[in-house]
Amino acid sequence: MQVIKQYIEDNKQRLLDELFELLRFPSVSADPKYKADVLNAADYVAKKLTDAGADKVEVCQTAGYPIVYGEKIIDAALPTVLVYGHYDVQPADPLELWKTPPFEPTIRDGKIYARGACDDKGQFYMHVKAFELMMQTDTLPCNIKFMIEGEEEVGSNNLSIFVKQNKERLKADVVLISDTSMISMEHPSLETGLRGLSYLEVEVTGPNRDLHSGVYGGAVANPATILAKMIASLHDDDNHIAIPGFYDDVTELTETERVELNAAPYDEEEYKMDLDIAEVWGEKGYTTFERTGTRPTLEVNGIWGGYIGEGAKTVLPSKASAKISMRLVPNQTSEKITQLFTDHFLKIAPPFVKVKVTPHHGGEPVVTPTDSIAYKAAQKAIAEAFGKQPIPTRGGGSIPIVALFEAELGLKTVLMGFGLDSDALHSPNEKYDIFNYYKGIETIPLFHKYFAELSK
Ligand code: BES
Ligand code: MN
Ligand code: MN
Repeated sequence: MQVIKQYIEDNKQRLLDELFELLRFPSVSADPKYKADVLNAADYVAKKLTDAGADKVEVCQTAGYPIVYGEKIIDAALPTVLVYGHYDVQPADPLELWKTPPFEPTIRDGKIYARGACDDKGQFYMHVKAFELMMQTDTLPCNIKFMIEGEEEVGSNNLSIFVKQNKERLKADVVLISDTSMISMEHPSLETGLRGLSYLEVEVTGPNRDLHSGVYGGAVANPATILAKMIASLHDDDNHIAIPGFYDDVTELTETERVELNAAPYDEEEYKMDLDIAEVWGEKGYTTFERTGTRPTLEVNGIWGGYIGEGAKTVLPSKASAKISMRLVPNQTSEKITQLFTDHFLKIAPPFVKVKVTPHHGGEPVVTPTDSIAYKAAQKAIAEAFGKQPIPTRGGGSIPIVALFEAELGLKTVLMGFGLDSDALHSPNEKYDIFNYYKGIETIPLFHKYFAELSK
């Protein structure tokens, strides 16, 4: 422990400077405009892995953005940890809401503000630096492999092929990911599950062109109004999702599991204050933790149609669209839910409009084991670094690769995230506490140490 702390202390500024350099690449995978920057970010990650002491570092080409691979095999008889992360980030818009530019990392009040600061550059880079630390202090206790991808934020479409084609190279005993949240630094926690995802786009078409809303309004159905009605009908008065069959495969938690899940600290007043909302909202009969961790949901991510420019334009739009995501829980599959949604949405379309549903991407839900050696190693590492036993929680977000690792490689994952839900992931002014960054670099070598020890 002393060795770890001393190394971090001795290299404090450099550890931060290097992360800042990584954060300056606008590696937005969703927007082709940033293609060169995404590729440059991949090269930077590869260089840093090499500098840290990794062998066989390779920027592996895919049909999309490359996957950066690197490894250090010290002894084939020792266990192997596969570290996964992503160097791509979400788009930064709306730009005008950022206090400082998203790709010029800035420290305010001990926090690093930048797109990707927490999700996931700040978090995966802790692993690169923890690896460097173990190499430099001669304390790497097991084999380590890195797989850092560049398409996580757009659904990891080319990842499953890569995993299938590289089964031998990716062989490991466990996957370790820091891309999730903790409750708080005072209440360290470990996520033991992630929701799945089904993402699609819907388009409602009315008349064959935009119309004068005075000349035709009142006599022709307005696609925006129809779309709004259709979307509103997807939740009933108790905020259950009103798609037939939607809950068929959902399993209820046992009473013990419910009690355990809700034992985690939660301050509703603080929660509301942080978001500036008067009341929380959700499916009747469930708590906030249950709603975000163990229940499926349906959200509109964006909705548009007609005139949205400056001032007014009196128009009855020809089309209206929305992007919709559904979060899934164990036993639901993205394929089935996408089908159920599509069938239902086409069925409820009134005869005045045409409706099109286009699936985007999906991911399967996962629950990670809490009785494994790796989970115990994570518990011990956090307990030692934070002076507190971590609380198990269920994450509401999705990381599609986790189910894929299990299906393709038979590998279980440990989700050792150091972010906070309030770090504004995917929002303007995303941040990551410098304290969390260093704390992560301190905790990760302990994970490897205990994982190697408990594996003996
Ligand atoms: N790191 C997040 C997922 C996450 C965040 C899990 C916080 C748990 C807590 C990841 O980068 C992400 O945003 N995933 C996407 C899914 C992807 C298919 C676009 C998501 O959850 O929306
Ligand atoms: Mn992420
Ligand atoms: Mn993300």
